[in-house]
Formats: sequence, structure tokens, C-alpha cells
Amino acid sequence: MQIVNPALDDYLNDHSSPADELLRDLAEETRRALPDSARMQVSQDEAALLTMLTQLTGAQLAVEVGTFTGYSSIAIARGLAPGGRLIACDVSEEWTSIARRYWERAGVDERIDLRIAPAADTLRALPAQETVDFAFIDADKVGYPVYYEELVTRLRPGGLIALDNVLQGGLVVDESDQSESVRAIRAVNDTIAADERVSCAMLPVRDGVTLVRKL
Ligand SMILES: C[S@@+](CC[C@H](N)C(=O)[O-])C[C@H]1O[C@@H](n2cnc3c(N)ncnc32)[C@H](O)[C@@H]1O
Repeated sequence: MQIVNPALDDYLNDHSSPADELLRDLAEETRRALPDSARMQVSQDEAALLTMLTQLTGAQLAVEVGTFTGYSSIAIARGLAPGGRLIACDVSEEWTSIARRYWERAGVDERIDLRIAPAADTLRALPAQETVDFAFIDADKVGYPVYYEELVTRLRPGGLIALDNVLQGGLVVDESDQSESVRAIRAVNDTIAADERVSCAMLPVRDGVTLVRKL
């Protein structure tokens, strides 16, 4: 199931803030170096949304779960308040070595603290206080319930979490699909909808993005 009609793909990008040369180069290098994985990268219109959400929360502290080659982390880092920082979580030294090069070129490397470890361990090791202003979850889908819980407890009131791929190409409503990742996404979607600590809005952006605001 296509969530967004493919005929609108270019139109959406053309009417969102454009990618600059650096992001275009990163997308191109990712496609060239990692053709089988490049589709994991966020799209240009989603990156524009991430920058705007980071700016709107006035983020001093942001957390990203799932960095890959760095496209979304650059979008978030560019939206941080002066002096702000981004904790980026991933398990791949190889993929994030591309990210590091582009962070340096973008001049945001000093704002990003990359933690190479299973994200659940990285998040659990963060201080328990409500200090996170903005978080973006875009890693292994089975981990989403844990990532959400660890982040929502550390989110400041008024802070925001964005979760990517919450529609799983429409499989969330196809009960014949009982794969582990789709079941995990259904579970976190249900948890969020019933969570009295937050308000939420599920948007049909690309593969589905849920925005969660802590009350
Ligand atoms: C969908 S990609 C992220 C794409 C990225 N947001 C972007 O825009 O380019 C998912 C990433 O999650 C990472 N990942 C997978 N399992 C993980 C885990 N348990 N902890 C942390 N990162 C993980 C993968 O290495 C991969 O880089």
C-alpha cells in the first residue's frame, strides 16, 4: 500500500524547503555506496519537517535513534537552539562513518554526540530527568516500544517525539501480517494513543510519522 500517491512525491519535495548541495551530495553518495539500504534515508520533505520541529521546540537537547549515513541528524542539528546538542544513536560504525564526514562538512560535528551501541542501552544510561526537548525514532522497529518509553520519561513537558514508519506501508491494518516488526509498531501505536502523559497526532507523511507532545 502506498501511503502517499507516488504521483505526489516530487510535488511534496518541490513545495518543502529544498535540500542544499550538502544534503544532495549525501543522498547521492548513500545511493551509490549503499544501494540496497539507501531507501532507509529520510526524504527531503521529512527532513524539512524535522528541522522545523526541532526549531519549534527550541531544542537544547535532542536525541536521534537510528542515524544511518546522517541525513536526518543534519536536519535536526541545523534546527537546534544555539549551544544545543544532539545525541545520535546507532550500531553501525560503517554507516555512521559517512555521517561523520558530512557532519564535519556541514559544520555541525561539534553539536553531535554519536553513541555506537544498542540504542536501548544508550537511552537507559541517560539521566532520568525530563531534559530532552526533541527526539526522533527511526531505527529497528522491534525496539520502538522500548525507545518510546525510555524517551517519553526523559521528555520535558511540551517536548516532542517524532516516530517514523508508524504505518509500515499499510501493514499495521493487515492482520494477516504478524511479523515481529509490524506487531511492535502496532503495540507502540496503541500505547501512544492510550498514553495519558501525552497528546499525539499520526500524520500520513511518507510511511507515517507520529508526533507525541508531553503534557
Ligand atoms: C532507517 S535507518 C535510519 C535512517 C536515518 N534516520 C536517515 O535519515 O538517514 C535505521 C538505522 O538504525 C540503526 N539500528 C538498527 N538497530 C539498532 C539498534 N538496536 N540500536 C541503534 N541503532 C540501530 C541501523 O544501523 C540504521 O542505521
